[in-house]
Amino acid sequence: MKPLKVAICGGGRTGHLNAILFKQLPDVQVSLLTHNPEVVEQHARQGSMQALLPDGSTLNARLDCVTGDARLAVEDADLVIITVPAHVRAQTLQAIAPHLSTEKPVYIGAIPGFCGFDWLAESTLADRPNLVIWGMKDVPHTAFDLKPGLSVKMGGGKSQLYVATHARESAASRQHLQQLLTRLYGPCVTMLDNYLEITLTPGNPIMHSSVIYGLIGPYGQWHRKIFPRPLCWWTECPELGAYFLERMDQESQDLCAVISQRLGVDLSSVKSLKQEIVEAYGDQIRDPSSMLSILRSNQAYNDILAPMVPADNRAGYVIERESRAFNEDVAYGLVLLVEMAKRFDLKVPYIEEVLNWSVSYMQGLRDSALDYFPRHWPRTA
Ligand SMILES: NC(=O)c1ccc[n+]([C@@H]2O[C@H](COP(=O)([O-])OP(=O)(O)OC[C@H]3O[C@@H](n4cnc5c(N)ncnc54)[C@H](OP(=O)(O)O)[C@@H]3O)[C@@H](O)[C@H]2O)c1
Repeated sequence: MKPLKVAICGGGRTGHLNAILFKQLPDVQVSLLTHNPEVVEQHARQGSMQALLPDGSTLNARLDCVTGDARLAVEDADLVIITVPAHVRAQTLQAIAPHLSTEKPVYIGAIPGFCGFDWLAESTLADRPNLVIWGMKDVPHTAFDLKPGLSVKMGGGKSQLYVATHARESAASRQHLQQLLTRLYGPCVTMLDNYLEITLTPGNPIMHSSVIYGLIGPYGQWHRKIFPRPLCWWTECPELGAYFLERMDQESQDLCAVISQRLGVDLSSVKSLKQEIVEAYGDQIRDPSSMLSILRSNQAYNDILAPMVPADNRAGYVIERESRAFNEDVAYGLVLLVEMAKRFDLKVPYIEEVLNWSVSYMQGLRDSALDYFPRHWPRTA
């Protein structure tokens, strides 16, 4: 079989885990692009990496190339997977774009592909017809406890992996992409018809922002207070946060319905967040009766801490302004939802309320999904 050359951009938890899993397969070469010198040095010392699986077993892998040099990482690649957070993707794409092959199809995707990766990639790779843009709806497995260059823990896996391509891609490219991803992940890869099915699937952007708003927003019980200890995101989720989440989930469904109707696209695969969580975690949720009880009683969510840092000059903790819950989920997730709703004259007051407060807590947006969201969408330019 012809070797498959995979370049993973981003040496975080998702990048490490996927790289190790791919190296278990025959005829797959894996390079990893990272800014972390520890990871590069560990590889240079002939080190291998280890994935610790939920059943206690381990997988070892020595990658073919680990480098901070974008050219070395991607110049031969057939498949490129971007695993950096949404707010870092633009700079990653700009770094690798000049070095991608122009001689063969290169399948360039993001895992996860939310926050409109198709639009970002289109804006950066407009004149590169051999590049095939794709995204995966979610990470194939959760990944945590990273020791850079050494090991990472694998959490629960998804039984189905949903993938979409940019609307510009041909049926033949989609089919070939599915074959490549099936080689890497097995027969669980399902192609979606429309990238909007990824972009409109509710997830972290509404989950994280609503809980933070419920905790420290103007009506939250911790408003302008210091937390005596770090809190768990979900088991200690405030009632107000769950209330906002339920409202934002509904608004996100309304947006989906309007887009589906006006653009004539089938978005029936996009479920409400509540349904997604209940279907994904099943019996691990002790009480599925309300959003609050789902979040508080899902055993898979136990012990996950909210992003907090020690407070300045005082004992205790505050929610971290520089957290990904703001830089990624608000600036690239909520901003996009509100802008899409605006283009259809749809009111999403709960999402807007949380977005506006979050942006003021962040002390303004430095960059956002509006930097690449097509100006004329939903009309074609
Ligand atoms: N981990 C999970 O289980 C999980 C679950 C659901 C969704 N996700 C999503 O998957 C994506 C990757 O998550 P992850 O958990 O793998 O992230 P991570 O462990 O924090 O790794 C992200 C990597 O991105 C690169 N990076 C460059 N600039 C950065 C910046 N300013 N902030 C943060 N990272 C930066 C770094 O890689 P280099 O140093 O190598 O350049 C970093 O290691 C995110 O969109 C996340 O929301 C992850």
